[in-house]
Amino acid sequence: MTETATGWRLSLLNRIDHVGIACHDLARGVAFYESAFGMTVVARERNEHQGVSEVMLRDANAAAGTSYVQLLQPLGPDTPVGRFLARRGEGLHHIAYGVTDITAALASIGASGVRLINDRPVRGSMGSLIAFLHPASVGGVLTELVQAPLLA
Ligand code: CO
Repeated sequence: MTETATGWRLSLLNRIDHVGIACHDLARGVAFYESAFGMTVVARERNEHQGVSEVMLRDANAAAGTSYVQLLQPLGPDTPVGRFLARRGEGLHHIAYGVTDITAALASIGASGVRLINDRPVRGSMGSLIAFLHPASVGGVLTELVQAPLLA
């Protein structure tokens, strides 16, 4: 929490950036979100460090700063999402919140006693910086922080 000069208290988490959903078959997942909900693919990426292929979808007419659905397919069984699928099956994997300054947010959240999976930011979707918080410290919810790239 940040106290401003005018006394407003600002939350470290300023929006829901995306929900991450684990699936076995990215193409099938995308087809479902397109046909059932009319969503549009805005990015497809392969993130070797996270061990996933991923697709970001949203409303085609959405304004900047909107929330996304992130579909995740593991690059192999011995990856975090691969192990999640084996243990829990397809479904909600994590929630990602937007932050203004991820380094400052990690320092503050870590100092509050929350266990950090990433104690410094790593590369996320679409040029963002991300870091994960351990679900054991967040009521069972794997939680991701996202600092969006600065727009040119
Ligand atoms: Co995510």
